[in-house]
Amino acid sequence: MSVVEKTIDESKQGEALLSVQKEDNGKKLYIESYGCAMNFADSEVVASILDKEGYNTTRNAEEADIVFLNTCSIREKAEQTVRKRLTEFKKQKKSNPNLVVGVLGCMAERLKKDLLEEEKLVDIVVGPDAYRDLPNLIQETNGGNKAVNVLLSREETYGDIAPVKLDQNGVTSFVSITRGCDNMCSFCVVPFTRGRERSRNPLTIVAEARDLFEKGYREVTLLGQNVDSYRWNMTSKGVIKDETIPTTNFAQLMEMVAQIHPDLRIRFSTSHPKDMGDDVLEVMAKYENICDYIHLPVQSGDNEMLKKMNRGYTVEWFKNRIDAIHRILPNALVSTDIIAGFCGETEEQHQNTLKLMEEVRFSFAYMYKYSERPKTLAERKYEDDVDEKTKGRRLQEIIDLQMQHAHEHNKRAVGKTYKVLIEKESKKSKDDYSGRNSQNAMVIFPKKGDKKPGDYVNVKITGCTAASLIGEIV
Ligand code: 5AD
Ligand code: SF4
Repeated sequence: MSVVEKTIDESKQGEALLSVQKEDNGKKLYIESYGCAMNFADSEVVASILDKEGYNTTRNAEEADIVFLNTCSIREKAEQTVRKRLTEFKKQKKSNPNLVVGVLGCMAERLKKDLLEEEKLVDIVVGPDAYRDLPNLIQETNGGNKAVNVLLSREETYGDIAPVKLDQNGVTSFVSITRGCDNMCSFCVVPFTRGRERSRNPLTIVAEARDLFEKGYREVTLLGQNVDSYRWNMTSKGVIKDETIPTTNFAQLMEMVAQIHPDLRIRFSTSHPKDMGDDVLEVMAKYENICDYIHLPVQSGDNEMLKKMNRGYTVEWFKNRIDAIHRILPNALVSTDIIAGFCGETEEQHQNTLKLMEEVRFSFAYMYKYSERPKTLAERKYEDDVDEKTKGRRLQEIIDLQMQHAHEHNKRAVGKTYKVLIEKESKKSKDDYSGRNSQNAMVIFPKKGDKKPGDYVNVKITGCTAASLIGEIV
């Protein structure tokens, strides 16, 4: 459309003109995000980049001029969900031929321009490191052309971009600290879709978190594929890059964010058992506003499986990390990720996973059937030989045991009083609020007085289910 064209051509004449053009745009952007928290955070970067071009976001796809799906490739099912959603936009595109449909994120990166062949209605394909190019790519689609940019970068962190918040609770937010992953777990497609690991300038992270606090947010979750390998101005071998500026590791970064304000809660995800050091746990112990909760994916409780998964630790090492958590943070709870039925997994190896779960007793877990992903080390090297039925049965056994453990944790909380950050009205009743305690348990309680989302309250726990705690403000 000519409006966009003008904005870009005439922008060379100066900022003032650009902002006048910006008002003229009048176009609406609709973004749907799938998969991990990083994708949700990236969608806010995309919204910010296009906000500067004069686009407003909308929650109603039907009134949109641009529809973006920010996609996930981690398991085959995630991709199927997106494909199904794309067919649903076919109708809208028929009635509005000017509608631009774009696929962003991991599926875009994995399938590249093949996606245009496979899904005829897609106009734009953009990988996770190419979002700054979106204004140009949108312009390229004028007149019905297709546009693709799937270049990965070793430097891009979008560090200077203030995300446009797309959520509505106004209390909790994600802040990304690293992009990409260098770990090469054999089952995982992420190193191929999100490229090499790189860390964001700590000053921009602190600035974003401070800005969120000033806008009323009370909790930030620092995001990275492996937060423990965050390092600024230092190579992975510990060599300083620039002697004139300080180096920063994850423990130091977390301390910088924790010092913004005692009322700003800090969470982080995801920790990696091979890299999580005591220094991180000690900083957590030092600051009340760093939450007593660690998401530490174990994937399997069997050493041979862990080796084939290329995870870089043993069961003994993992248990040593759990012991360190309990020693340094006696009140902390730990959650995990588990994969059932990875290549060659025997019944005994599956039992070893259940055994480890019994020993550790995670408060929460994400549990999956192994899904083979193209190009990964496992796809090239091992046979996906555990049949669907066995995978399903093993997964169910893992889920059943985890439910028991979660319920036990919640029962133990009954009678205790926790400091809870009110997040929003409960989904089930408008008379109740929901929020979380430091250990990340969901707490539901009746509204009381003038307390509102963003406030901290003390809640006495009076009951529970396997999924949440029930209580009242005291
Ligand atoms: N199949 C099943 N689960 C996977 N995960 C990553 N790749 C796969 C796969 N191919 C899970 C891991 C990881 C989480 C984000 O997704 O448990 O920690
Ligand atoms: Fe994938 Fe492993 Fe990197 Fe996590 S740490 S994103 S599972 S390769």
